[in-house]
Amino acid sequence: MMTAPVRKAVFPIAGLGTRFLPATKTVAKEMLPVVDRPLIQYGVEEALAAGIEEMIFVMGSHPSGARDHFRRAGELNAVLEARGKREALEAVNACVLPDEHLHVVHQDAPLGLGHAVWCARDLVGDGPFAVILPDDLVTGARPCLVQMTGAYAETGGNLVAVMDVPRAHTSRYGILDIGETAGNLVAIKGLVEKPDPADAPSTLSVIGRYILQPEIFSHLAAFEKGAGGEIQLTDAMAKLIGVQPFHGLRFEGTRFDCGNKLGFLEANIAVALERPDMRDQTRRLLAAYGGGG
Ligand code: G1P
Repeated sequence: MMTAPVRKAVFPIAGLGTRFLPATKTVAKEMLPVVDRPLIQYGVEEALAAGIEEMIFVMGSHPSGARDHFRRAGELNAVLEARGKREALEAVNACVLPDEHLHVVHQDAPLGLGHAVWCARDLVGDGPFAVILPDDLVTGARPCLVQMTGAYAETGGNLVAVMDVPRAHTSRYGILDIGETAGNLVAIKGLVEKPDPADAPSTLSVIGRYILQPEIFSHLAAFEKGAGGEIQLTDAMAKLIGVQPFHGLRFEGTRFDCGNKLGFLEANIAVALERPDMRDQTRRLLAAYGGGG
């Protein structure tokens, strides 16, 4: 099957980060650092690894350094150069994107994830695109979106990354009604946003990585409110089932929910333990607190 390659990634980052107040009073949630990089950078690096060059940030009205983070920092570079700080200089320049590859659109009201994605419709145009929720940090040997674009080359259509969650947690996620399974791919028969555990069709949940076809926009444009009174991406995706191929990919790796404090703390520990320059010290630190190994 010939599938059009995924060239653009949408990053909905308009959220207020209320669970991280007061930190997020002046620092946007996507700029909170895991070890030494802001969350948004992990998402952008994942997209780049998957061969995606064009990034679309859907931002809210509150200030965020996300756009500037990917610009060349002339003054800082000059200071680092003058001081001979080579490593720092490399780190700063590693996250620079060409201006023409980074687009910003504003979501004027917090109407839900579906609405945020809809705001990117003109920038996305008529090709397939990825959606990355930077709150969901995924670690592993192969970046999650790389696994997805690989699978998408076979399946075409729409593809979401999925993982099993405890039944008690189904009300936090988009949950799949599962069709046929082939290896790590599952055909999706239905999707429901944040069902009560008793009503959930399975415990297989969508995480914040999607490859979607542009036909989703006509469904999002209906502005139908779903769970929590919000315009849900899940509801618009559900309308494409049976019309276009729709699969879930059981990705390899670990997903951390950086939208909550403990998940964020755990992500910091996990990333530090994966970093050769920090692994041993982090282990010693954990041991001193009675954990780790
Ligand atoms: C969003 C989606 C949900 C998905 C989740 C993954 O929910 O609506 O379907 O399972 O991201 O993190 P949120 O976390 O924004 O409530």
